[in-house]
Amino acid sequence: MANAFVLGIETSCDETSASIVADGKKILSNVTASSLTYHKKYGGIVPEIAFRMQLETIAEVADRALAEAGLTIEKTRLISVTDGPGLLGSLLTGLSFAKAVSLGRRIPLLGVNHLQGHIYSSFFNKVEPGFPFVALVVSGGHTSLFYVRDFDRIALLGATRDDACGEAFDKVAKILGLGYPGGPAIERQSKKGDPSRIQFGCSNTKEPFDFSFSGIKTGVFYYANTQLRKYPGNRKLPGPIVSDICASFQEAAIDSLVAKSLSACAHKRTSQLVVAGGVAANNRLREKFSQAAKAGGVDCYFPSRQFCTDNAAMIAGLGYQLFRRGVRSPMNLCAVLD
Ligand code: KG4
Ligand code: ZN
Repeated sequence: MANAFVLGIETSCDETSASIVADGKKILSNVTASSLTYHKKYGGIVPEIAFRMQLETIAEVADRALAEAGLTIEKTRLISVTDGPGLLGSLLTGLSFAKAVSLGRRIPLLGVNHLQGHIYSSFFNKVEPGFPFVALVVSGGHTSLFYVRDFDRIALLGATRDDACGEAFDKVAKILGLGYPGGPAIERQSKKGDPSRIQFGCSNTKEPFDFSFSGIKTGVFYYANTQLRKYPGNRKLPGPIVSDICASFQEAAIDSLVAKSLSACAHKRTSQLVVAGGVAANNRLREKFSQAAKAGGVDCYFPSRQFCTDNAAMIAGLGYQLFRRGVRSPMNLCAVLD
């Protein structure tokens, strides 16, 4: 399958993304439309708004991806589409569009798992991870550790028991009045704060490779409220306190991710670790993972920042690899919610 152009479609959350990737490696285009501004005033994603916007934009986004790659649809070898996990209406929009194009143009269709797509985004780097490796996917909807033997041999080692890490960033930001999405806002505030000022911690889990972020979020909530009572008449906490809360929360959340990921590497006796998903765009996270990995003799791989958050290039790339390995999807492919 040389010079195979794959059209990727990703609509699992608020983004509408289409991409053309050649041979699983070369990104010829990656066009993403986001409905984020329409969700901001609600402090989170409203599924109804997300999928209505996706319905309106998907055809144009796919056309632009083809035009930017200098291709027509006839030249694509495969249509690779996210089939889950994600929001039902959003997934169905992408799936229906992909099926229609596949049927109309007689191009094979392949459904791809969104989390496995995130892992694949590290394969666009010059230096690729080598199999087998441990992968942490840390995003707004998931925090999961996988053991990856090949693109079609991926086993779940553990996952969050409650909130996803990105969700905790978003909720903590909401508590502190920093807006949505919370991750980038908390990272910015943390730069001005002292990470050792407040002792937050993630709750223990029964299974060693599971995560829990709901307790730490509640801890921040009570701490922030207690502090606020010290400033009668104030509706907001003073800036320096907000920065210290952000830095301390961020540090504790990242410490939990680092400790469990490296312990999974030791357990699986692998020295290769991939860290992917929206939260992997965080600079402090990248710094702490790199330091700990180096000390533990582990090679740590991150996707480039632009491919940490949701994008169709990762779906096209993984689709190419799976198709080469003989994986196929039927026309009655369904959305998988988790
Ligand atoms: O992977 P993604 O784009 O969507 C999902 O599949 O969920 O991840 C979005 C999540 C959001 O929760 C957002 O707050 C978080 O990633 N995020 C960050 C940063 N950038 C995005 N979290 C911490 N630091 C960041 N710089
Ligand atoms: Zn994602």
